[in-house]
Amino acid sequence: MVRCAISVVHQENRFTVTKDDKEPMTNRRLIVVSNRLRFNVSVSDGQFEFHDSAGGVATGLASYIQFRRRTGSLAEDLWVGWPGTSVEPSLREDLKKQSLAAYRSYPVFLSEEEMEQFYFGFCNSTIWPLFHYFPSFTIYQTSFWEQYKHVNQIFCDSLMEVLDTNDVVWIHDYHLMLLPSLLKAHRPQLSIGFFLHIPFPSFEIFRLLPNEWRREILEGLLGADLIGFHNYEYTHHFLQCVLRILGYEHQLAQILTSDRVVKVDTFPMGIDFEKFSTAPADPEVHEEEKKIRSTLSEVTGILSVDRLDYSKGILNRLEGYESFLEANPEYQGKVALIMIVVPSRIGVREYDLMKRQIEEMVGKINGRFGRVQWTPVLYQYRHVPFKSLAALYAASDICLVTPLRDGMNLIAKEYVAARTDGAGVLILSEMAGSAKELPEGIIINPNNRAEIAQALKEALETPLPERKRRNQIMQRRLKRYDVMRWANDFIKSLVDVREIQNHIQAKLLGSEGRREIIERYHRSHRRALFLDYDGTLTPLARYPATVFPKRARSADPASLVR
Ligand code: G6P
Repeated sequence: MVRCAISVVHQENRFTVTKDDKEPMTNRRLIVVSNRLRFNVSVSDGQFEFHDSAGGVATGLASYIQFRRRTGSLAEDLWVGWPGTSVEPSLREDLKKQSLAAYRSYPVFLSEEEMEQFYFGFCNSTIWPLFHYFPSFTIYQTSFWEQYKHVNQIFCDSLMEVLDTNDVVWIHDYHLMLLPSLLKAHRPQLSIGFFLHIPFPSFEIFRLLPNEWRREILEGLLGADLIGFHNYEYTHHFLQCVLRILGYEHQLAQILTSDRVVKVDTFPMGIDFEKFSTAPADPEVHEEEKKIRSTLSEVTGILSVDRLDYSKGILNRLEGYESFLEANPEYQGKVALIMIVVPSRIGVREYDLMKRQIEEMVGKINGRFGRVQWTPVLYQYRHVPFKSLAALYAASDICLVTPLRDGMNLIAKEYVAARTDGAGVLILSEMAGSAKELPEGIIINPNNRAEIAQALKEALETPLPERKRRNQIMQRRLKRYDVMRWANDFIKSLVDVREIQNHIQAKLLGSEGRREIIERYHRSHRRALFLDYDGTLTPLARYPATVFPKRARSADPASLVR
């Protein structure tokens, strides 16, 4: 027997959240889930060593969590993720205890083989290149996809060990796009938020994924109650993919799926402004800044810092700098490009290849323009601890950020915050999400090396009062919308979504209602039947004729026609 469902949508009062509704939510425990924890573990002689994770996401989230604890948030928190290495089963209980005690973190254990196919495979050889508009680097391999599903399931199982029904779960990034719906299926009452830290590509790019993968990724994400992106374009792309692939329409970025409303919104991630703007006053940072300045002597430092990644446009940057030196011989000997490349994802073929190309290009520029007393590119391939990074920001008069595609780019924001004297100049690619928030920088197209060269000249010649004016505007903006505000806005929006969902009720027709309908049917003389099928008896589908109510699915379609 097929049951009939009646959906009642109450549109009024959608945004009212009473204090009573909100309080219990904000007092709930926050569970942050990301592939990488805020630390990486290494094991030597059965002992664990904990090192800070490098990525902007881990650093930003760590700042937010510290802030919550410092400001005495009533709610507890727990961070769930991979500890950065595979850990022997005999050591796992011990690591769990130490991670909980020292970091309030709960490790998810993955074998080397799982990491190989999941992290290096599907995450970094399929999703990363495709979502950054490098389709020619994208590998479509079934075993990667299978492992991606498997690892998302492992995360779900690990979470089941620690979750309470009342928890608020905030899942981060492209490694875990199937997790929201896996969790929702186990615990429908959980409030689940998802945030994507990389671009969400346009439909034309996203559709390159095989049909099953792209559908499952979208359905996986729609298990969340709130899905956040860095900027409006990514949000728009996502809504369009959901419409064209799954057939769900949206109203003001609220998607009505077959059973819930899912909200989609834009939250540009901020930085820990306080941390970066106070760093230059730290005596150690100040000392290091002085050393860098004295090494540079009269030379103007142009800073470039990135993880080694083809999306960062490092080669374009070097080409632009070469064009600048060529076109402006008067600046030869007067500027130096301090190029820091941070090791990342070692072992992925494109990354290894790129490292070689960067090093060849640096050698070429230094060989062509360098002199005994002047090296045009000061290249380093290494991790940079926070204080050294802050000193580099403070000592460099220009920061050159030229990604070909970047979800946000926090380096640009950190530089502006750390140049407290307001004398620095930011040159920023229009392809970085942060360009929308930092338009007072010099905005360039990274594919145009002449534009990069021209921007460098403009930066060197911008008068100090103008630099200060622009920096003040950007600093005010970054201070106002910092990482704490970003995270709080997201959590608040998650509260609001629950409110909206409460206004949408799906009532299954019970036996009493059924009896009444049958009685009225018999009593009446003129009958009009209004029936609905897809969207009521089955989920919405592109071709309604091809879907059948669950119980009839296996039946011969012909037998349904009387
Ligand atoms: C990107 C991702 C981040 C990640 C960072 C470092 O920016 O969006 O989530 O922290 O890369 O990547 P890794 O592969 O080292 O975790």
